[in-house]
Amino acid sequence: MVSPDSPTANTIIKDIEAARRMALEAIADAADSESLRTLNSDLKGKKGSLTQLRSQLGSIVDDVVRKSAGQLINDATVAIEAALNARLELLSKRERASQVADEYLDLTEFVTPDRRGHSHIVTQSTERLEDVFIGLGFNVAEGPEVETDFYNFEALNMPKSHPARSGFDTIFLNSGANDGGEPDSVLLRTHTSPVQIRVMQTWDLPIYAVMPGRVFRRDTPDATHMPVFHQIEGLVIDRDITFGHLAGTIEAFTKAFFGSDFTSRLRPSYFPFTEPSAEFDIRRANGNWMELGGCGMVHPNVLRACGIDPDEFTGFAFGFGIDRMAKEQHKVEDIREMYTNDLRFLRQF
Ligand code: FA5
Repeated sequence: MVSPDSPTANTIIKDIEAARRMALEAIADAADSESLRTLNSDLKGKKGSLTQLRSQLGSIVDDVVRKSAGQLINDATVAIEAALNARLELLSKRERASQVADEYLDLTEFVTPDRRGHSHIVTQSTERLEDVFIGLGFNVAEGPEVETDFYNFEALNMPKSHPARSGFDTIFLNSGANDGGEPDSVLLRTHTSPVQIRVMQTWDLPIYAVMPGRVFRRDTPDATHMPVFHQIEGLVIDRDITFGHLAGTIEAFTKAFFGSDFTSRLRPSYFPFTEPSAEFDIRRANGNWMELGGCGMVHPNVLRACGIDPDEFTGFAFGFGIDRMAKEQHKVEDIREMYTNDLRFLRQF
């Protein structure tokens, strides 16, 4: 039974169905997530039609009618909530897609061939050097730029007190001492020779390797010096390797890299890690000689430090400056020009 001042079963059920239909239509009509959020709070707020209908439930006298009206309101609430969520997801997706489309930036630029970039001349030279040595049967290896005293000096037959150390204007890093190690035990490598040690420690014999990379010295920049420059190291360890193999390799390389009108020569020199040692020069087409780097037969102490028996294996090593080669190859007058990053200079090569 429904009391005289209470909603009749028919009225309230019609009202609930109408409220549900209107809410679902309003949700379907919401054009964006903002208006959907406003609609959400209107529907669930005090003035929301279902909230008001729910507040009338108490005045329905008939238990059965009150229960079924309550059930209808619950069903409508669940259906409205599901419709709200589904619509919100759809609208948010659409809005994200249109935001992405609106904010899309075309970062590509049509570049004419004269403006296309290219590798720096030192990179070009390094890659050509690698190609030439790979052609001669060598493999390529790399090592770390931050080295320990052991690899940069000690294993290369330069113990702490060795005077040859002063020839390398070393840049030490604090980290050795800070990490609880010895002070001056970590440094920026002064040459690529430490990679020789790493290769000998880890590769199987025989070894035919070249090792290009960046090196650092406390050198003041001038026409032929930079504090950061590049070297390429060469190492051969095999049975019955002689000085003749070293001279032949350098000559073969000179002709392959610079051309058949270039030739090479070796001059006696001294490095603690090779014995005998030499500097090697190349003769340009105009007859002038230019020093390229150092070389020699790997010192037996170095072989021993790497666990190689010097009575069974011998070898040679060389190391030269790539920047100076690039300078020579491209007839650049001052090595510093290559590092000013002046595009007018760099675009010439
Ligand atoms: C060495 O660094 C030895 N490790 C080379 C070596 C390797 C000898 C293996 C024997 C066996 P040196 O300090 O001479 O040697 O340097 C080699 C080359 O690096 C020089 O001939 C030069 O071409 C280049 N070079 C040296 N210092 C600079 C610099 N500050 N700027 C540009 N190039 C440099």
